[in-house]
Amino acid sequence: LTADRYPWVTRAPHLSRIEDKHVAAFERLLGPSGVITEEEQLDGYNTDWLKMVRGQSKVVLRPKTVEEVSAVMRSCSEGKLAVCPQGGNTGLVGGSVPVFDEIVLSMSLMNNIIKVDPVGGNVWCEAGCVLEAVNTHLEKFGLMMPYDLGAKGSCQVGGNVSTCAGGLRLVRYGSLNANLLGVQAVLANGDILDCMSGHRKDNTGYHLRQLFLGAEGTLGIVTGAVISCPTLPTSVSLACLGLDDFSKVLTTLRTSKRILCETLSSCEVMDDTCMDAVANKLGLKPPLGSHKFYMLVETHASNPQHDGDKMDAFLQELLACGDVEDGTVASEPSKMNALWQIRERITEALSRDGYLYKYDLSLPHEKFYEIVHVMRNRLRGVKAAKTVSGFGHVGDGNLHLNVEADAFDQEILEMCEPFIFDWTQKNGGSISAEHGIGFKKAKFMGKYAATGKASLSTMRAIKTALDPNGILNPYKVLPPA
Ligand code: FAD
Ligand code: MLT
Ligand code: ZN
Repeated sequence: LTADRYPWVTRAPHLSRIEDKHVAAFERLLGPSGVITEEEQLDGYNTDWLKMVRGQSKVVLRPKTVEEVSAVMRSCSEGKLAVCPQGGNTGLVGGSVPVFDEIVLSMSLMNNIIKVDPVGGNVWCEAGCVLEAVNTHLEKFGLMMPYDLGAKGSCQVGGNVSTCAGGLRLVRYGSLNANLLGVQAVLANGDILDCMSGHRKDNTGYHLRQLFLGAEGTLGIVTGAVISCPTLPTSVSLACLGLDDFSKVLTTLRTSKRILCETLSSCEVMDDTCMDAVANKLGLKPPLGSHKFYMLVETHASNPQHDGDKMDAFLQELLACGDVEDGTVASEPSKMNALWQIRERITEALSRDGYLYKYDLSLPHEKFYEIVHVMRNRLRGVKAAKTVSGFGHVGDGNLHLNVEADAFDQEILEMCEPFIFDWTQKNGGSISAEHGIGFKKAKFMGKYAATGKASLSTMRAIKTALDPNGILNPYKVLPPA
């Protein structure tokens, strides 16, 4: 249980415990099928994707409409009952599961795609829509979602907004900061905040929708979103490259920006430990021989001739300068998909047989991979640490650093934290690039919040104003007072 493993967190005494009378009231609001209390069914909602934290909730609520969410929140607010909003439960920082007995508010049944504006290129959808389902729907209109994650088959738009998800194509389409055009949210007191007009430009007062971006369920329940969607490319190419030195990864990134320019849609890196994991644990066939590093460089374009010419020029330059040892290029969907599977399933492979310590760092490019060597040296004598690896969105300066162990081990935890956060701060980085703070990093926010102490007090002031009783996802994001 989370509470046993992390004894520094204690249950907030002012929050009520759920009683039969509350369950009966929720059943009246949502109908019996909207309330889950059976032990076996609760387990999946109490445990996170990585199986590193586990809560003790006794109730899961599954509203179908914004009015139902509003009624639930009004009732929780009156009864001082804590709520943990849950989308696809693919989050990697322990934010989506309760710490103690918070009610889980699952958004899965609010999964209607409301409308698409094919001219403006926007989609309106409910928060529980699964990312992949929205993308498939958008294809009919020649559009796509502006972000893509390995978790696309399970993660939900409301979860993506709440974590400000980054993903594989941020280098081209930008972050949700720009692409989120509207939000509907239910506040702690049950009020419905509707900012769903979806105008690309709207300066009428504060940009309230942005409050919910990356709020990780601590400021309100996101029930709907409007997302700006780019045009679906009609020509896509994907190069997989093998390199023997990280400095060459960086020169290749620069070359890709210079030559592929406006067509570059993704630039990712993984090291040999990651490739070995997907090959050995998932049985995926490595696309190239053995190298220290592998890059995936993708283009999205509208003219196959132009796209092909640019990709050829890029590959010729790489061959001429000798930075790349080997490579393969695909433009058939099945081949590209096979290459993407290798990249997208790294975390599944690394976490398959034990416990995975994950760090999601923004770093200056010249420091990007150094921490992997630093941690390998630091953990050399620690038997329980099996591998240290690095992969991620090198185009965005976002490294995913992973330490693999057979099981949770306190010594490894203490060797990693706060050492990795100190190192990151000292080197001008951020301790959360895209996964958020959740439960796992909340206690470190005081020292490492990227924008300093005044930002933390402003965050607390916003939290108190919107959620005076602290019922929304307690113990997450903000450090204990
Ligand atoms: P959940 O995990 O259910 O919740 C995440 C947080 O948001 C929690 O704090 C929860 O309380 C809150 N929340 C969820 N829904 C709502 C709502 N409707 N209203 C208010 N709060 C809500 N992340 C990236 O950024 N980039 C990646 O490339 C990436 N790749 C991934 C690959 C894999 C294989 C996996 C397992 C995860 C990956 N992630 C990635 C992390 C994760 O998928 C994202 O954080 C995603 O946005 C979470 O969406 P979700 O619906 O699963 O949210
Ligand atoms: C990814 O880029 O694959 C994700 O952010 C998931 C991870 O870091 O494990
Ligand atoms: Zn990532």
